Amino acid sequence: MKIIIINGPNLNLLGTREPEIYGSESMEAYIPKLRQRYPDMEIEYYQSNVEGELINKMQEVGFSYDGIVLNAGAYTHTSIALLDCIRSIHTPVVEVHISNVSSREEFRSRSVIAPGCRGTIQGFGLDSYRLAIESLLGLATR
Ligand code: DQA
Repeated sequence: MKIIIINGPNLNLLGTREPEIYGSESMEAYIPKLRQRYPDMEIEYYQSNVEGELINKMQEVGFSYDGIVLNAGAYTHTSIALLDCIRSIHTPVVEVHISNVSSREEFRSRSVIAPGCRGTIQGFGLDSYRLAIESLLGLATR
């Protein structure tokens, strides 16, 4: 099984960015742990601060990979282009958020991309990514 974790804007700063909300672990430290936990799975990682680059990556992998774990960052709340992209590809997309966006500012409680995703996992810190992988495993064995 081949999946990719795609992180959007400002998530390259995980570990130092608002640690009281997003924790103090970087993605670079977390990804190897995930790979160790799922040795039979190919787990790729991609991050971009640029909306169009996220779309290019999703189009590139979205017809051959088994799953996409997407934390679109703030584009979650604004990007119809990402929603259209998610709807245009074949690979299932699971929306992820580190924080519980429903308990924060009002503008974060609306996800523009959610209608295109298979489901959403939020609020469990970096463990949200692992839970998203579990959900993709569930889809694959269904
Ligand atoms: C986030 C939540 C978004 O509202 C925010 O813009 C982010 C991170 C999260 O993982 O909790 O950049 O997606």
